[in-house]
Amino acid sequence: MERVVSGIRPTGNLHLGNYFGAVRGFIEMQHNYDSFFFIADWHSLTTHPRPEDIVRSTQTILAEYLACGLDPEVSTIYRQSDVPEVLELYLYLNMNAYLGELERTTSFKEKARKQPDNVNAGLLTYPTLMAADILLHRAVRVPVGKDQEQNMEMARKFARRFNTIYQTEYFTEPQSWALGEKAIKIPGLDGSGKMGKSEGNAIYLVDDEKTLTKKVMRAVTDSGPTEPNSMMPEAIQNLFTLLQIASSEEVYNHFLTAYNDCSIRYGDLKKQLAADLVAFCAPIRERILEIEKDQMLLDRVARQGAEKARESARKTICEVRQIIGFKPLN
Ligand code: TRP
Repeated sequence: MERVVSGIRPTGNLHLGNYFGAVRGFIEMQHNYDSFFFIADWHSLTTHPRPEDIVRSTQTILAEYLACGLDPEVSTIYRQSDVPEVLELYLYLNMNAYLGELERTTSFKEKARKQPDNVNAGLLTYPTLMAADILLHRAVRVPVGKDQEQNMEMARKFARRFNTIYQTEYFTEPQSWALGEKAIKIPGLDGSGKMGKSEGNAIYLVDDEKTLTKKVMRAVTDSGPTEPNSMMPEAIQNLFTLLQIASSEEVYNHFLTAYNDCSIRYGDLKKQLAADLVAFCAPIRERILEIEKDQMLLDRVARQGAEKARESARKTICEVRQIIGFKPLN
């Protein structure tokens, strides 16, 4: 089976946008690929989080992925910081990564602008750590969003450069894997744009019935269509997109017909949408709460994942040491 690696930044609770944009893809993929999924907790240090936040956000993201169906018996799920081998590869790659090219990456420039008081070397070398994450397991494919394309190009460049310098074909260039046509872009409830944590318009998988219903009932609408079969403004289109993922075809068609003959009442649509979203999220929410309480389970998953990941990592580091001219550690 082809090897797949992807890193997940522990940035708070998963929302519907994450679920339909990425998580669902991972869940499906794990059965067809030799999949490594890890929580990129070392990457998160670029913004200097507090120790208690690191622990909590890692636990949360792990529990939520498990609740969604990521299966530790099928894929290798681990915390980046449990596999220190990646740091050795990070060092080797950094020796062949040039200041100019690192400074030119869009994400570095953006972050340097956002946190001008903390333009640290970790921020600059974010792409080399990411390349090390991938090359450590000699992954063939990397499922990531479009925003990671430049980092992926760097990873390929570092792999090629290593091969050239050491006259080897050791690393294959990892291919980016757009999470596919199947990924659905989930809109926000504020009339425009996509759902996102920073946009403040997200429905979280862990939202309870009351919270979720309140969010849906507050969604932006307009005064309704005045002519049959009129174009849908974005805000209304967004509600229909959500109906499409959460409700039955029957319900969807019912409201579509009502929109087209101008008899639609947005209040009814929202009530139905809220109920269907609750029905979708509730079982996941229950599993999240259960798993979050089960420290033994979380520890076991992390330990088991780290063992599998380190086995693969040690093999690569041993071979890389030999290629570079160091003795393998025993
Ligand atoms: N940079 C990725 C992001 O921001 C996270 C990440 C870190 C990653 N290492 C990786 C993704 C390796 C894929 C492979 O989402």
